[in-house]
Amino acid sequence: MTEKKVILTGDRPTGKLHIGHYVGSLRNRVALQNSGEYDTYLLIADMQALTDNARDPEKIQHSLLQVALDYLAVGIDPEKSTICVQSQLPALNELTMHYLNLVTVSRLNRNPTVKTEIKQKKFGQSVPAGFFIYPVSQAADITAFKANTVPVGADQEPMLEQTREIVRTFNSIYNQPILVEPEGYFPPKEMGRIPGLDGNAKMSKSLGNAIYLADDPDTIQKKVMSMYTDPDHIHIEDPGKVEGNTVFTYLDIFAKDHEHVEELKQQYRHGGLGDVKIKRYLNEVLQAELEPIRTRREAFAKDPAAVYDILRAGSEKARQVTNQTLEEVRDAIGINYFK
Ligand code: TRP
Repeated sequence: MTEKKVILTGDRPTGKLHIGHYVGSLRNRVALQNSGEYDTYLLIADMQALTDNARDPEKIQHSLLQVALDYLAVGIDPEKSTICVQSQLPALNELTMHYLNLVTVSRLNRNPTVKTEIKQKKFGQSVPAGFFIYPVSQAADITAFKANTVPVGADQEPMLEQTREIVRTFNSIYNQPILVEPEGYFPPKEMGRIPGLDGNAKMSKSLGNAIYLADDPDTIQKKVMSMYTDPDHIHIEDPGKVEGNTVFTYLDIFAKDHEHVEELKQQYRHGGLGDVKIKRYLNEVLQAELEPIRTRREAFAKDPAAVYDILRAGSEKARQVTNQTLEEVRDAIGINYFK
């Protein structure tokens, strides 16, 4: 029997997931899960979330369930995918310690994603050390499962690069092919990043410009009606800009009828098509996409105990897998003195 390829991916539980997560990664994960070609693990990375939320642990506790509900809502099936919780897998912490010895401080300083986050989060000189090294802990997440494939948003590529370096270094120093080099699996470029409702390049909770998978129909409609379009398109008769117009960006991503979208674009460019009309159409498209997700989410939300059972069972299975890798790593380093 040939072994199945392994998928590992994860999210920080700092809030509910939004449609940016959905097109950026969740959709891919469901498709990969259903292909039947992989052993799929989803890690809710609460330890990573705590690296910059140590003083607000309730937020992480609360978000753990929210993220689990979002997974189940989009079609992650616990029969096919193992959903597990990072803090319940102690092997990850020890692996992190071993890998830290293989990584330089200057290499960590060059990680572009972490650099951007440090700026965004306005840490200044007060970056928590745990936050600074989270790419190494993420390398532990990925390698503990011996994952080949990591479906994530494009911003995670630097973490994969760093993981591959650690894998190569480890395998060469200890002279055994124990760890596996992972590949990223990214959405097509045009889907990669969905802008915020306000036209900001990034949809994010902290910017307050997101549509959540849990949003009710009224909320979705209000958000769509408030979206950024072309600020110079004042009268319906005026010619409008399609490029950089968030409503059209979303239509490109979500609308199934591409011909109709092209017609609307032409009309908008030419003049004579109002913002309200295109927003109404986008609202219909989004409502249709999100309705089944929200319905499933509500059904699971009625029984949180059952969701925790899924997480407990998944974490138990993951604990065995990650402990096994840790044993191999300890053997290779030569610290299993009493075995
Ligand atoms: N850093 C990822 C994010 O912010 C979350 C994450 C944690 C992750 N561990 C992981 C992603 C392992 C992929 C694999 O989205």
